[in-house]
Amino acid sequence: MASKRIVITGMGLITPLGLGVKHNWQKLIQSHSGLISTLELANSDPLFEQITSQVVGAVPIGPKAENKYDPDDHFSKHEQRRYSKFIQYALVATKEALADAQWNPTTREEKLMTGCCIGSGIGSMEDIYNNSVALAQNGYRKVQPLMIPKMLPNMAAGITSIEFGFGGPNHAVSTACATGVHAIGDAARFIKDGYADVMVAGASESSIHPAALAGFARAKSLSTKFNKDPAGASRPFDQRRSGFVMGEGSGILILESLEHALKRGLTKDEIHGEVAGYGLSGDAHHITSPDVEGDGAKRAMEFALRQAGLTYSQIGYVNAHATSTVLGDRAENYALKRLFGELGTDLAVSSTKGAIGHLLGAAGSVEAIFAMLAVENGVVPPTLNLDVLGGAEGDVDDDFVFDYVPHVAKKKEGLIAAMSNSFGFGGTNASICLKKFDE
Ligand SMILES: *[C@@H]1O[C@H](CO)[C@@H](O)[C@H](O)[C@H]1NC(C)=O
Ligand SMILES: *[C@@H]1O[C@H](CO)[C@@H](O)[C@H](O)[C@H]1NC(C)=O
Repeated sequence: MASKRIVITGMGLITPLGLGVKHNWQKLIQSHSGLISTLELANSDPLFEQITSQVVGAVPIGPKAENKYDPDDHFSKHEQRRYSKFIQYALVATKEALADAQWNPTTREEKLMTGCCIGSGIGSMEDIYNNSVALAQNGYRKVQPLMIPKMLPNMAAGITSIEFGFGGPNHAVSTACATGVHAIGDAARFIKDGYADVMVAGASESSIHPAALAGFARAKSLSTKFNKDPAGASRPFDQRRSGFVMGEGSGILILESLEHALKRGLTKDEIHGEVAGYGLSGDAHHITSPDVEGDGAKRAMEFALRQAGLTYSQIGYVNAHATSTVLGDRAENYALKRLFGELGTDLAVSSTKGAIGHLLGAAGSVEAIFAMLAVENGVVPPTLNLDVLGGAEGDVDDDFVFDYVPHVAKKKEGLIAAMSNSFGFGGTNASICLKKFDE
């Protein structure tokens, strides 16, 4: 039996650029930045002032009519108390994705064959922190009964399945910054293996909190040199990059077997594209630093490409993981060069983290949506702040052989397939291959 083909029929986004797929795409290709200073956040915590990195990509707060997020537009006060922020983001993105897919199952059979695979890198840091402080300062009775269900990383998947009555696989990946790609790839496998016909797949993150920023800052992962120029802080592949900028949000995709999509009458135009290949590997090297030659990354990409049955030259765009760290961007670029080097500037490689920062667990699913939109629209989103390519400050590195789409988006005729990479602490590497749909 031929392996089932998996298509994307719905997408939903909430990011530092705002609410909704259409709005995000417009802002992205118009080179907008969603980054701001932590000192300007609503309810900013005085602890932010001590931290060496003071830039984040926060979901903008405001009315829905302006494509901003106001929890009152989406949830009752009762729900807001029960659902921590990363759960809220996942629900908002899921609603958009389901509406886009026109998937509103009513029968028991349909609901049982719909599953949720929504991950998170961290879960709710704020709930862990507040309850730990309350316990230490005021004792046992100050710990909230809802602490655990608000904080667990699998609760975005759990609550989504309860809200919509989806009785298929209920799964949550947590592989640090590779979470989003693993969630999509694993969900596709659930459909291929017959566990479900439709999967709500992706990831959600909301870790903009002094404790999380302090941890990443102490690990020397975060941007520190652009605190006075937030929009310039995330600069993938640029010589002056100094670390990543933490972002938040959620990207959710509706995956289904092609057979199922056609049977329920979707037309070619209603299918965004196909999940053609998925690769995953481990660096087996170091807890936070990449293998310098990008070996794990290379193997993940090779696997995804082989599974997709595509040749190197059929990939016209790579949405790179490139988080704007000195070592990470260089290692990924080196891995890309070893695989795609012959394509030179025929291959567009951009990192949308220049605009939204690094959404940790949610990065992979948000960026897979951007990669899919690039293929659908024949437009490659830009890498913001890319002034001078390089391995490090003052180091002109001739390994940078591709078109990195600096500053402005670029039309790309004949783009039929893209790849999106995500790598995480622990040396985990994932890559996904997305293709234009044609019968
Ligand atoms: C955590 O505590 C801060 C400070 O008291 C408060 O503003 C915030 O709303 C709390 N967050 C949660 C999720 O309970
Ligand atoms: C593979 O994953 C590790 C884990 O952090 C990551 O640091 C590294 O960048 C990835 N590999 C490459 C070459 O990018």
